[in-house]
Amino acid sequence: MLSGDFMKKFYKIIEEKISKALDSCGYQVEEVVVNESNRPDLGEYQFNGVMPLAKVYHKSPIDIAKDVVSELEKDSFFKNVNIAGPGFINMTISDITLIDFTNQNDYEYPKNNKLIFLDYGGANVAKSLHVGHLRSANIGEALNRLCKFLGYDTISDTHLGDWGRPLGLVILELSKRHPDWVYFDESFEGEYPDVEITNSLLEEIYPYASSKAKEDEEYLKEAQIMTTKLQNGVRGIIALWNKIMDVSKTDIKKIYDRLNANFDLYKGESDAERYVPEMLNYLDKLNIVEESEGAKVINVSLDTDKLEIPPMLLIKSDGGILYSTTELATIYDRMKNDKPDEIWYIVDKRQSLHFTQVFRAAYKSKIANDDTKLIFAGFGTMNGSDGKPFKTRDGGVMRLNDLLQLVKDESLKRLNESILDDRDEIAEKIAMSAVKFADLLPNRESDYIFDVEKFCDLDGKTGPYILYSTIRMKSLLKKAEEANVSYNKINIIANQFDRDVILALNNLDLILNRAFDSKSLNDITEYLYKLTTIYNRFYTENIILKETDELKRESWLYLTKIVYEVNKILLNILAIELPNRM
Ligand code: ARG
Repeated sequence: MLSGDFMKKFYKIIEEKISKALDSCGYQVEEVVVNESNRPDLGEYQFNGVMPLAKVYHKSPIDIAKDVVSELEKDSFFKNVNIAGPGFINMTISDITLIDFTNQNDYEYPKNNKLIFLDYGGANVAKSLHVGHLRSANIGEALNRLCKFLGYDTISDTHLGDWGRPLGLVILELSKRHPDWVYFDESFEGEYPDVEITNSLLEEIYPYASSKAKEDEEYLKEAQIMTTKLQNGVRGIIALWNKIMDVSKTDIKKIYDRLNANFDLYKGESDAERYVPEMLNYLDKLNIVEESEGAKVINVSLDTDKLEIPPMLLIKSDGGILYSTTELATIYDRMKNDKPDEIWYIVDKRQSLHFTQVFRAAYKSKIANDDTKLIFAGFGTMNGSDGKPFKTRDGGVMRLNDLLQLVKDESLKRLNESILDDRDEIAEKIAMSAVKFADLLPNRESDYIFDVEKFCDLDGKTGPYILYSTIRMKSLLKKAEEANVSYNKINIIANQFDRDVILALNNLDLILNRAFDSKSLNDITEYLYKLTTIYNRFYTENIILKETDELKRESWLYLTKIVYEVNKILLNILAIELPNRM
């Protein structure tokens, strides 16, 4: 195919043309960057890179720009090239270029050989998922899908919190309520009987035990002992822990399914524990572990630090291990077994210090080699209207399920009354689109405010708006097919509305790469909104199916098809599902 990667690389093609033009005029430039024009009256794209050349070549920028323009003018790729101000080059693309390239669209990215490991989700066993886990699942899943789309290999892991204090607390409380269970009898050697543990029981037990431990010092001590028993592998405690894991994981998976978050691995802190002795052994030989007040630590501060970074705690004075210990051991496991080129952590940005310490310890100890990128992609919180992390009416942490239900109820309320049979399924998809789009719309690091009405607004910058518009594209195409009107290519650019759609499509590759680099989905959600809105204007201005000029009608339908496909690709990256109708 001539240049089948038009949609993907439109900017790169212009940049290459400018590079060549500069080169043939005798100007050496390392990198050429072309942007969408902010003066559409002067051109569609602009190149502002001649200014720095003026100094190097002792020539006025305008003269350099003139040289470049006279080269570019020879190329029928452009309809118009002109100079604005002191030497900004504006370019407008010729119709034939846009038409040719639009007809050769192809969205496949070649495979590349890099493996990116994504750590997101982060649910805690025996504790219900809360709103804080929402963003990790949404952002992480979308980044995972984006990486795959761009040709990377990926492995996703939820990294369950399944080995620490919360489990000690839950198991302790179970032992208080059921002292008769043989799980707690350390002399018991038989097979453990079935006991009734449900998720709602766990959801009740954890908050109870957790607040009790805050008031009752004795209870807290007992919980610590229980945690140590678990970490030391006491047989009955491990057997009970396995039961809790089964029940809790099933529930966690259900919620992740609702959010379309799929993990290759459901590993957790407990899986890392296996590598702790081996890792400690390795670290011991390096002489980087220091004693500090009875604990073992790795010093990770650097002379250049403006704020002091405290040492990473490896082993507590009582011999217990911590979040940072299993974290480092997890990197040990991943580097040993999966050998990723990059590991991305999509975690609440308030954990940034923890990751700074662990990453430094990982590099210092060469558990991660220097060419492995450990990347902390921290995210902001979802807040209530008071600007503080979202709470229930009585001030508690809101369970994720309850939050999703709130949005589902709102979606059901708004759903077209004529939809009867698959009402629930459609409302579910709309609700998830509302939650996800709103969650992915702000920059990753920004906080945002939960506002169910705004999220569900069909006329706003929302998931439901995108779904509704995309379904309308689909039904237009279906109507054309039913009327036996075929659409295999675009023939002409009939008006500015058509042109705007094509120019918006040209930005796809740029947007995807920007999202990849920033590890934030806001460019994609904004783009999806923009493309959809530009398409909707095109749709209102052009009376498509009734158009008697067949060349025009075919072009319009074909453009509809491409926008429909791009929207589907982007929705899929965002892990948002399109309902059949709404
Ligand atoms: N379970 C943790 C929490 O709820 C998040 C885990 C994030 N991932 C990691 N590798 N530490 O806070």
